[in-house]
Amino acid sequence: MGKALVIGATSGIGRALTEALRERGVPTVAAGRRKDLLDALGGETLVLDATAPDLAERLTDVGADAVFYNAGYGERTPMPDPERTERAVAVNVLGFERAAQWALTHARLFVATASIAGLRGLEDTNGYSASKAYMINAMEGYRRKARHGRFPCRYVTLLPGFVDTAMGQASAVWRCSPKAAAFAILKTVKSGRAVGYVTPRWRLVAWLLKLMPRALFERIPLP
Ligand SMILES: NC(=O)c1ccc[n+]([C@@H]2O[C@H](COP(=O)([O-])OP(=O)(O)OC[C@H]3O[C@@H](n4cnc5c(N)ncnc54)[C@H](OP(=O)(O)O)[C@@H]3O)[C@@H](O)[C@H]2O)c1
Repeated sequence: MGKALVIGATSGIGRALTEALRERGVPTVAAGRRKDLLDALGGETLVLDATAPDLAERLTDVGADAVFYNAGYGERTPMPDPERTERAVAVNVLGFERAAQWALTHARLFVATASIAGLRGLEDTNGYSASKAYMINAMEGYRRKARHGRFPCRYVTLLPGFVDTAMGQASAVWRCSPKAAAFAILKTVKSGRAVGYVTPRWRLVAWLLKLMPRALFERIPLP
């Protein structure tokens, strides 16, 4: 892997991923909005809002060979909240889409952190789940585009279950550390697989979620 850029590197999974890449000798630019956290992380950093309309130009300036789109927003809300959905769409859909399009003609690897939550509709994280569903489908579309249009970029989708970060603290079920998540992500990239589960045991949950009939899924309470 040449130069890497981690978008959403200031905390949680992205921070651990940046550290893991650097430990493996990959020159890595850490990007995010919170400058104080980037300064604390050190190395090459970039203050970047993934929702900025000029994201493609900013990515061209960095010139990364591998882009990890890890930026994300999602919160549990007891009632649907259009403002929070708008925030989720801005970063999980529009920012992601600009970066993924850019990668098609400029990068060799594009890795997106989606979520197991994107596999079905979830009542308390509805906008988040729907935005991650977009990401999962769009990544499949980009893989097809790269293959049939002979573009050199490889698109890898990651589906974390619960990771012990600010975003993942709501549930304790099968929760892994950010370091374990980063390890699973890099293992997927190295394996050549198109889709990876974080950690691999979530493959089983994903399989159950995909197979479960709608009528049954809508009846069962979730953690
Ligand atoms: N934790 C879990 O259980 C879990 C499960 C499934 C999927 N995920 C996904 O994993 C990814 C990382 O989340 P995390 O759990 O590590 O939570 P986190 O610690 O809250 O990290 C979120 C990261 O996204 C960045 N970000 C958010 N909005 C951004 C924007 N507009 N521009 C640039 N960066 C932005 C944040 O940086 P700044 O605020 O500094 O910009 C931060 O670095 C997310 O995509 C999330 O949906 C997490």
